[in-house]
Amino acid sequence: MKNIVLIGFMGVGKGSIAREIIKNSEYIAVDTDDLIESMQNRKVKEIFEVEGEKYFRGLEKKVALWLENGVKNTLISTGGGFYKVENLKNIGTIVFLEAPFDSIIKRIKKHPNAASKLKKRPLLKDLKKAKELYDIRRPEYLALADIVVNVEEKSAYECAKELLKKVKKDV
Ligand code: S3P
Repeated sequence: MKNIVLIGFMGVGKGSIAREIIKNSEYIAVDTDDLIESMQNRKVKEIFEVEGEKYFRGLEKKVALWLENGVKNTLISTGGGFYKVENLKNIGTIVFLEAPFDSIIKRIKKHPNAASKLKKRPLLKDLKKAKELYDIRRPEYLALADIVVNVEEKSAYECAKELLKKVKKDV
């Protein structure tokens, strides 16, 4: 099994969909933010605050090299900016989880832990800037994607099913 790499904007549901995929397939899953947090023994938010974004992007590059060289048969959920690593395409099949900006924000806000979901993401602090970032990134995500799954108005389970079906066709 080739790795599957989930890319997409913050809050689109990469984590929830990854959890559904592992329930319904043979995949093991890892998350690049979790790998960075355990490597650093501190939260992404703190790394951004203390070291700055550039330092964080350096850590993502390190993780990307390790994934390319050491990880197989795995579902890899990534932070929203991880797609910029140079070797992304060598890591696995790239799946872009797509949804309009407004529906992503709506999804976060209706979550019971909405406040903490917003707080832990430094780049979602200012929604106007986040929308600008979304507009820049959307075409870049699309250009890299082998597969696109539109997640709007679908449950994580439905997205996971659709994704696995499309991945099977792709191999
Ligand atoms: C980021 C997304 C975050 C996290 C960091 C930066 C981004 O991950 O990696 O705050 O640049 O979009 P999520 O996409 O899981 O929120």
